[in-house]
Amino acid sequence: MRLNKYIARAGIASRRKADELTKNGEVKVNGLTVREPGYDVRDEDAVEVSGRLVGRADKPVYIMLNKPAGCVTTAKDDRKRPTVMDFTADIEERIFPVGRLDYATSGLLIMTNDGELAHALTHPKHEIYKTYIAKVSGVISDEKLAKLRRGVDIGGFVTSPAKVAVIGQAGRVAEVEIQILEGRNRQVRKMFAAVGGSVVGLKRVAVGDIRLGRLKEGQYRKLRREEVDCLIAPPSNNSNEI
Ligand code: URA
Repeated sequence: MRLNKYIARAGIASRRKADELTKNGEVKVNGLTVREPGYDVRDEDAVEVSGRLVGRADKPVYIMLNKPAGCVTTAKDDRKRPTVMDFTADIEERIFPVGRLDYATSGLLIMTNDGELAHALTHPKHEIYKTYIAKVSGVISDEKLAKLRRGVDIGGFVTSPAKVAVIGQAGRVAEVEIQILEGRNRQVRKMFAAVGGSVVGLKRVAVGDIRLGRLKEGQYRKLRREEVDCLIAPPSNNSNEI
C-alpha cells in the first residue's frame, strides 16, 4: 500500500498532509527516513510519523451508531459525560466519529478508522445531504419554509438551499424534515432560530442515501459495501424537493 494511503488509513492525517509530512522528513519506515509518498509499504514494515509508531493499517471499519441524546461525540469528555465511544467499546479497531452531533441530538452517526474517508466527508467540498427530523415549537409558515429553502444567515455564514417540509403538527410543536448540505456547528438549530423557531428535539435520520432505519438508540451496525461506496461517490441530487 502507498505510504500516504497507509498514514491516512491509520487516521493520522489526510493523504495530502501525509505527503507533506513525508516530504518534510517526518516519516520513517523500519527506522529509515522515507521522503517518497508513493513508497510501497508492506505488511511487515514499521512506520513512524514524527517519532510515533503508526499501528499497522487496520482493515477499514465503517459503522453507523444510533447516537442517543445525552452523550458527546468525542472520544473523551472533560466533564465525564457519556461519549459515543461507550456504545462501540467492543469494536477492536480504533474508530472515531465522522463529524459531530450535539449532546442533545440523536440519530445517525458514522464512525470509522478510515482517516481519509473521514477527512473527505467533513470537507466543505464534499456535498452530501444530511437529513434531520426537527421538532420545532410554534407553527412553521410557508414563508419560513421558503426562507430555509433559499438559505439563511446563521451568524456570518449563509447556508446552502435546504430541502424542507413540514411532516406533522402536534399541538404547538411542528415536525419538520430538513436536509442540509453543510455540517456547521448547531446548524439546524441556528437555521430555525434564524426564521424565528426553536428546536426542541433533533434527530439525524440519513446521511446521503444511508438511512438509520430501525436501528435502536445506542446500537450500531456495520455499513454495507454499497453504503460505503455511496459515501465515497455520492449520487448527485440538486433538486430542492424532498
Ligand atoms: N444541526 C444541529 O443543530 N445539531 C446537530 O447535532 C446537527 C446538526
